[in-house]
Amino acid sequence: MKHTRQDFPEGFLFGAATSSYQIEGHAFGGAGETHWDTFAATHGNVVRAEHGARACEHYFRYEEDLDLMRDAGFDAYRFSTSWARVLPEGRGTVNQEGLDFYDRLVDAMLERNLKPMATLYHWELPSQLADLGGWTNPDIANWFADFTEIVMKRIGDRVYSAAPINEPWCVSWLSHYLGHHAPGKRDIRSAARAMHHVLLSHGRAIETMRGLGMSNLGCVFNMEWSTPADDSEDAKRAAAIFDGYYNHFFLSGVFKKAYPEIVLEGLEPHLPAGWQNDFDTIGQPLDWCGINYYTRKVVTPDDGPWPHHGDVEGPLPKTQMGWEIYPEGLYQFLTRTARDYSGDLPIFITENGMANDDHIIDGTISDATRIDYFDQHLSAVRQAMAEGVNIGGYTAWSLLDNYEWALGYEKRFGLVHVDFETMKRTPKDSWYAFQKMLGKP
Ligand code: NOJ
Repeated sequence: MKHTRQDFPEGFLFGAATSSYQIEGHAFGGAGETHWDTFAATHGNVVRAEHGARACEHYFRYEEDLDLMRDAGFDAYRFSTSWARVLPEGRGTVNQEGLDFYDRLVDAMLERNLKPMATLYHWELPSQLADLGGWTNPDIANWFADFTEIVMKRIGDRVYSAAPINEPWCVSWLSHYLGHHAPGKRDIRSAARAMHHVLLSHGRAIETMRGLGMSNLGCVFNMEWSTPADDSEDAKRAAAIFDGYYNHFFLSGVFKKAYPEIVLEGLEPHLPAGWQNDFDTIGQPLDWCGINYYTRKVVTPDDGPWPHHGDVEGPLPKTQMGWEIYPEGLYQFLTRTARDYSGDLPIFITENGMANDDHIIDGTISDATRIDYFDQHLSAVRQAMAEGVNIGGYTAWSLLDNYEWALGYEKRFGLVHVDFETMKRTPKDSWYAFQKMLGKP
């Protein structure tokens, strides 16, 4: 890496992130069925119908994985708790074994001087709740608050920070309008309801955690920079709509207690009755703002139904996901988010990284492109900090190669390579690059 720890302020946290379903192995430890299990079992949804039953077997190998975090010199580990592992039916009976696992996991982080950064929900909704309409059912806010209380009564005294829901846009739009993720709906009305209920659930979880006396609470937004495909007014308008429902909608709900007009033009008829009355819950004060950033979208106008846009392939170099590498977007989001939404609150880059077609050759994995990706994005972080943006830390996605949702196990995002047959972990050059940057021998 071209950066050193000393290039960042004292106390700036470096870490890596993962999520429960993507690494734990959902078949182990008494976890209940989730909508990802059934979604993956339905032909055509997931590459080779792969699922998270075994994943990286982190459920059994978490100590080895946390050793890798410690040995890289990281300060913090961002992880998530699986709703169905704790409450196999989503409500009611608690699976003590599941709760015990998160208890052990948090202690194992603390033993290694890693700050636990918890996310309560990273996408595996218990099937029984999905059958009741999942995120389209307004009751989910209460179900989620109950889950939050159960988890945080157990580990809330030891986590460094907590966020209720990972990537509201993915939970709602990607999963209910585009149908790319579970539950695979393609319906604007379901999407609008899910968008609102995700934010309402976020707010209820924040209230619940405050009630337990917890602090350092935030929200993790995913952001994709919106670039008009050309200079025409139509393309600019299309890009503004995309930016509106992808980026501004969620930030605006949480930080301004209002939804942007450009989004209401299309979504208002589909929002649940009384949505205007929920903003005091949605807009609970936060302590930090999380940004997951990977790429941008090149947006074109389209004369189909709202949101009236499509997209085209951009000209920049791409990752294994086909995503353009565009660090400028991270800089833009950091400055814009601080200016328009989060003000002086610390921003954490809670995810950033790239998938690469990595191979072990003679025991090593040369992922120079990934190191360069991190370098470029860390430069964007430094640039924003130099302009006064308060940034508290950066957690790379991801510690391990893992289950990349609808794309299965083929897309490798890890700093550490995982052989999904033997489960052997092999640090990649990017892991060593972080180790060197962080001042470990
Ligand atoms: C964001 C999600 O939080 C994570 O689950 C996913 O693996 C990465 N993006 C990469 O697509």
